[in-house]
Amino acid sequence: VKKIALLSGGGDCPGLNAVIRTITKTAISKYGYEVIGFVYGYRGLYHNNYVELTEESVEDIYKEGGTILYSSNKDNLFDYLVDDGHGGKVKKDVSDVAVENLKKDGVDVLVILGGDGTLTSARDFSRKGVNVIGVPKTMDNDLASTDVTYGFISAMSVGTEFIDRLQTTAKSHHRVICCELMGRDAGWITLYAGLAGNAGVCLIPEIPFTIENVAKAIKKRDEMGLPYTVVAVAEGAKYADGTKVIGKIVEDSPDPVRYSGLAAKVADDLEKVIPNHEVRSVNPGHIIRGGDITAYDRILSIRYGVAAVELINEGKFGNVVTINGDKMGYTSLEEVIGAAKIGQQKHVDPNGELVKAAKAIGISF
Ligand code: F6P
Repeated sequence: VKKIALLSGGGDCPGLNAVIRTITKTAISKYGYEVIGFVYGYRGLYHNNYVELTEESVEDIYKEGGTILYSSNKDNLFDYLVDDGHGGKVKKDVSDVAVENLKKDGVDVLVILGGDGTLTSARDFSRKGVNVIGVPKTMDNDLASTDVTYGFISAMSVGTEFIDRLQTTAKSHHRVICCELMGRDAGWITLYAGLAGNAGVCLIPEIPFTIENVAKAIKKRDEMGLPYTVVAVAEGAKYADGTKVIGKIVEDSPDPVRYSGLAAKVADDLEKVIPNHEVRSVNPGHIIRGGDITAYDRILSIRYGVAAVELINEGKFGNVVTINGDKMGYTSLEEVIGAAKIGQQKHVDPNGELVKAAKAIGISF
């Protein structure tokens, strides 16, 4: 291996820059590889749009959120929108152009930082014979093959700060404040932030809720002399009676349903059953994804990045870097993608230790 290329695809996630930095530094200083980065994800690969990455250029991005390589959300080169030559657009498999570009640029290994969608294409490039290494990216922490993904701790910490701040204002006004947190179909961010921030109620996708139970928990707190409650609401939490709340719909997104708006709906419903309280809702949305990353995520990003370069050195292509217990390891891209497709993401165990601990200290679900 002489030259490697990086790209980041899908939504950004805290820690991407730290991983880019680690891979670049390790690849250059330990193995003497040349490193380039395609910009705007797969789109950059298609247009052969890249930047040289040097140890100096990545030195300061160890704690910066986002990705210096930018990202594109929906670009799939196996089904890519191109001009049809008659003023219109047509979807086409343009992956051969990408493979040609890699050859032209002398790239021996493509390192892909991404979630489900991005890694599906990574697997498809691997099937086409490209040497690929995946570094899994999700702040939702719902990847089954690895204990913890970079970005989760940072996002959850910002979520915690939101809840902390809401506590003092909720207390001052004896209010109930519902705070919506991202996390897609998994409750990790909300459960952790809810626990850390002492939310009175946590609503997570894994434990469907009723408004009656939430109201009961609020009343119980009232009776204890705590006439205020912060309710942490995961964007993917579910009403037990099947009531659906669909927020913004992004038509051409690979994942068209957004849950944003759930906390507002919960607040509206609560107001009807606890008339003695003013109820408010907030939705920090993408804020929890931005800003500097936590110390723990910096370390995790270093571990993921170094492990990725070691996989390159060992020639173990077609794999995704994982961490289990104290050990860095890897799982085949085929397996990781398969798990996501059949809904085998990692979820909070409703009967697990963490939920039991939350209940033990009085948090309701
Ligand atoms: O998967 C990461 C995530 O931030 C989810 O928590 C959230 O549902 C989604 O991405 C938001 O996507 P977008 O940035 O496309 O609005």
